[in-house]
Amino acid sequence: MTATTDLYDVIARRRDVRAEFTGAPVPDDVLHRVLDAAHRAPSVGMSQPWDFVVVRDPDTRRAFRDHVAHERDTFSASLPPERRSTFDRIKVEGICESSMGVVVTHSQGRGGQHVLGRHAIADAGLYSTVLAIQNLWLAATAEGLGLGWVSFYREPFLQELLGIPQDVRPVAWLCLGTVSHLEAVPDLERHGWRSRRPLADAIHADTWQHKETDHA
Ligand SMILES: Cc1cc2nc3c(=O)[nH]c(=O)nc-3n(C[C@H](O)[C@H](O)[C@H](O)COP(=O)(O)O)c2cc1C
Repeated sequence: MTATTDLYDVIARRRDVRAEFTGAPVPDDVLHRVLDAAHRAPSVGMSQPWDFVVVRDPDTRRAFRDHVAHERDTFSASLPPERRSTFDRIKVEGICESSMGVVVTHSQGRGGQHVLGRHAIADAGLYSTVLAIQNLWLAATAEGLGLGWVSFYREPFLQELLGIPQDVRPVAWLCLGTVSHLEAVPDLERHGWRSRRPLADAIHADTWQHKETDHA
């Protein structure tokens, strides 16, 4: 395989993992490579607004898992009965089963007042942090690890739990660790929740050109 096909292969194999974690430890050098890949992400004005909180403490993870379970119930209760029964079969986190949590934070204040390229689009800072997460996800996949993004939480809860300052946003709790395997098909597709759109529906030539599937 060439470096190019390797990259496409990793992109294709990357999966959001919930149920396949084994809990075995990840060697420090492997974790370092994965975090280094995240830290090499592009960022608006070189602001590098991300930080990584590596959470191994079982009590902290249990407390977060309980909070996520509550938020899962809140979402479930908002669904019509048919969607609820589909959702109830879907696992949405592997917080305690994974080898560790990596909480990725975003500091909008980093880089000062004059961040080059952010004057018109404040969200460009957040986009940068999300790119670090994608690098982290792909590097984890290349290392044979699994990663699952958890967003069923309230930001103030996670700030309090981890001592994150008020002006720093916890953008993601990433369950990271060794896995038995990666599924070939996304969980949400396998459970009939939602499927991937065809690429052709996402490509527009020159202008937006309304498509039937735009709002589906
Ligand atoms: C911003 C973001 C938040 C997500 N939050 C959750 C989550 O809370 N729980 C979960 O199980 N998956 C979560 N996911 C994973 C998506 O469900 C998953 O990426 C999608 O179904 C496609 O599957 P794949 O990543 O395996 O290709 C999240 C993904 C993103 C990008």
